Amino acid sequence: QESVYRAGVFGRTPAVPTDFATLEARAEKASSATAWAYVAGGAGEGRTMRRNRAAFDSWSIVPRMAHGNTTRDLSVDLLGTTLPAPVLLAPIGAGALMSPDSDVKIARGAAAHGVTYVFSNQGCNPMEECAAAMGDSPRWVQLYWSTDEDLVDSMIARAEAIGAGALVVTLDTTLLGWRPMDLNLGSLPFSQGIGIAQYTSDPRFTEIVRERIANAPKQASEVTLGAIRTLISMTRNHPGSFGANLRSPEPRAAVETFLDIYSNPGLSWEHLATLRERTRLPVVLKGILHPDDARKAFDSGVDAIVVSNHGGRQVDNAIASLDALVTIREAVGADPTVLLDSGIRTGADVFTALALGADAVLLGRPYMYGLALAGEQGVAEVVANVIAELDLTMALSGTADLAAITRDLLVRDSAR
Ligand code: FNR
Repeated sequence: QESVYRAGVFGRTPAVPTDFATLEARAEKASSATAWAYVAGGAGEGRTMRRNRAAFDSWSIVPRMAHGNTTRDLSVDLLGTTLPAPVLLAPIGAGALMSPDSDVKIARGAAAHGVTYVFSNQGCNPMEECAAAMGDSPRWVQLYWSTDEDLVDSMIARAEAIGAGALVVTLDTTLLGWRPMDLNLGSLPFSQGIGIAQYTSDPRFTEIVRERIANAPKQASEVTLGAIRTLISMTRNHPGSFGANLRSPEPRAAVETFLDIYSNPGLSWEHLATLRERTRLPVVLKGILHPDDARKAFDSGVDAIVVSNHGGRQVDNAIASLDALVTIREAVGADPTVLLDSGIRTGADVFTALALGADAVLLGRPYMYGLALAGEQGVAEVVANVIAELDLTMALSGTADLAAITRDLLVRDSAR
């Protein structure tokens, strides 16, 4: 906190704005209309996205004074690893819309502070490249449940091989939500080949693509593995270069295959029950909102859940993530590991989420806006700012460590 704050006071010019509203406005200016629609957009009328923020506004922090603390400990033990702060970077796909080689830059920005980066299954760099950019810094791997069970196993094997600390299975995107901003522009990154690098770098995926092309004689005579591998580099870039290549059969088949198999609309607890014997990694289920689903998750033996409405991108008019956290914490009790995302914008938000029972939070769009404005440095600064403000909020509220951030430091603003 000190270093960020003092540098600011003594005239350091930050690479990215330190408040969210300016950060967002500048990022919008720096982005194309289609990129902005995808990243900033929400489902339907945007009610859930607004509600995520309104939920934070509906709680007030009641700071305690004269507590005598001069230092704070922000560290947290999460699934067997001690992390420097209770802030992780959420898995975000199609990041190349904001900056080429997005996921490697994000990986470096996260590693600069030792915070966990959750690699998206729809990332723009293969997870092996991201891991290599992070050294020993913690990384988790997020998975959408493919309709191809061998692809599920292949992704899990890769996650284990790159030293992932957990496997995060996202449950809320068995189908893509109703996203008017993208629909109005007639644009989705995947149709341009953006966000499929995790697939085109996968041996099982390339096998499926080759089989498909072989079985569609009108499309192609011969496809080599090398041709498909070249997709990896294409999928890192902005739209355009890849789009032009969609006329040739290999990239086109890869995109179509991706769209067909990336997620299983029939995903059930029976699928999830197989995870325990398929991986030795801790399992995290992301996208839980109902208390009964939270109970089911822990009854089925998962290690943690992420209470999340996907940043308001899936079901419009869904419950705010923070409101769901309250009922879920009540339902599962104090012990299980419960994380939260959707709507976290500041350090004070992190404080509020922890006071309502979250063990840690995931930061979403804010770090993408940092990426859009200043690449790796922008990501690192956004993360540093959120952690610095959390530290300052703790200092000024009389909490020396995360365990001291309790519900009695909040009141609900019912009058607003
Ligand atoms: C996401 N999110 C997401 N989640 C996931 O499990 N896998 C993914 O590939 C993606 N992709 C993705 C792309 C974009 C552009 C956004 C904005 C979000 C959801 C993400 O992990 C997280 O739940 C939300 O971003 C949290 O909400 P806020 O902080 O952005 O409001």
